[in-house]
Amino acid sequence: MSKQGLVIFDTTMRDGEQSPGASMTKDEKVRIGKALERMRVDVIEAGFAAASPGDFDAIAAVAKAVRESTICSLARAVDNDIDRAGEALKQAERARIHTFIATSPIHMQYKLRMEPDQVVERAVYAVKRARNLVEDVEFSCEDAGRSELDFLCRVIEAAINAGARTINIPDTVGYAIPEEFGFKIKQLLERIPNADKAIFSVHCHNDLGLAVANSLAAVQNGARQVECTINGLGERAGNASLEEIVMAVRTRSDLFNVTTGIDTTQIVPTSRLVSSVTGFPVQPNKAIVGANAFAHESGIHQDGVLKHRETYEIMRAEDVGWNANRMVMGKHSGRNAFRTRLEELGVTFASDQELNLAFSRFKELADKKHEIFDEDLQALVNETSTMEEKYSLVTLEAHSQTGEKPRALVTLNVEGNEVKQASEGSGPVDAAFKAIESIVQSGTSLQLYSVNAITSGTDSQGEVTVRLEKAGRIVNGLGSDTDIVVASAKAYLNALNLLANKVDKAHPQASGV
Ligand code: KIV
Ligand code: ZN
Repeated sequence: MSKQGLVIFDTTMRDGEQSPGASMTKDEKVRIGKALERMRVDVIEAGFAAASPGDFDAIAAVAKAVRESTICSLARAVDNDIDRAGEALKQAERARIHTFIATSPIHMQYKLRMEPDQVVERAVYAVKRARNLVEDVEFSCEDAGRSELDFLCRVIEAAINAGARTINIPDTVGYAIPEEFGFKIKQLLERIPNADKAIFSVHCHNDLGLAVANSLAAVQNGARQVECTINGLGERAGNASLEEIVMAVRTRSDLFNVTTGIDTTQIVPTSRLVSSVTGFPVQPNKAIVGANAFAHESGIHQDGVLKHRETYEIMRAEDVGWNANRMVMGKHSGRNAFRTRLEELGVTFASDQELNLAFSRFKELADKKHEIFDEDLQALVNETSTMEEKYSLVTLEAHSQTGEKPRALVTLNVEGNEVKQASEGSGPVDAAFKAIESIVQSGTSLQLYSVNAITSGTDSQGEVTVRLEKAGRIVNGLGSDTDIVVASAKAYLNALNLLANKVDKAHPQASGV
């Protein structure tokens, strides 16, 4: 029997972005959008258009740049959200509006303060309004995992009649257990008379570590779209991980009657991109994309794998993009090759001036580092942002010697004025941060400091993430350099600039309808 298609709906840039500190700029979203398109993701949820002008612009930019995947915006079941979504998607080749309302007793009573009849009416209204703007409308019953079956059947039947083509069943709070969730999908499909007029989708959160298992149980019971994120990024414990769903369905094709259109060799490069943009590192033992996912340490395993790979390996590392061919650039690569490769990675330059600036940084890096990989280019672009910079690093001198107190001398450009400051610290990075702080007096608190080698080798660039918090706002600053102390100072300043620039966003599930 031939297999059915499973629609892969990526929500890294919407639900993933809802993780504190994971917010992405417009340019970063375009780069992730291009990577997802290369991976042949079917639907990309690029954001929540009504959240902020910045999110609106980012969705519009992704809709313009990505032509192969459907681009989607989330919208609560209210006029303004739906209209903003429609507007942001105007330039999309294929556009989807994803509207939702909560259907569980607890959400209807305490959050929405609405009667079930009003919820059904509002759902129908929202779907119809969205259908006036786009053909492709998805409707979600928020907190479906804790909603009553009879009520779900009622609201879904009405939403399909109103024109929804996809019906999404979210386990919003990550409460479901696989057998129960799979059975719920089966019952919905059996009981809703017009269920055959829509694709049933699932969207599982990972609060009990069951998001992937619940999604797969749903697929075995008839769901034909899965909503997921790269690296399992998402609210609280995250969403179902795209790479795990895709590889489970593929590796156990004996059990699943579905196939995806995903180019699995793009999984690891995209995972790295998302990790570097958000500053959320991937744990080494994470399935598929963790650094140890294919490393066999034990002698018995190594021996077995050498004799016959399948003794201990169920997937091939190269099939998910480990050691994928990454074009290497170097000192002698020209501006054209540089621009072309970046365009392939989803980076376009607004002006020649911007291209020249990025190219001169590339040349500086090529002087220090023999081979430049895609990851280096991504990191370089992370830094060459178009954001207005209140603070920038002019020079940094760091001194550390055994038996002596480490110190740093930092010169910053602060809104056009050069300011110098020396400081001591427990190490050179600490000293540099203290020197910066005594200049800027930001009043922020440091939530996370992490360093990753971008590629292998001791000449590799270090990529540093600095997460700062101020008055409830959290940002991730990124910096890269072959010198870790310089990378750290750049990341710290990047976080301060983000705090100085970014507009606050509304949360889609926070209040109202
Ligand atoms: O988790 C959830 O319920 C959601 C919906 C908005 C789809 O993210
Ligand atoms: Zn969600």
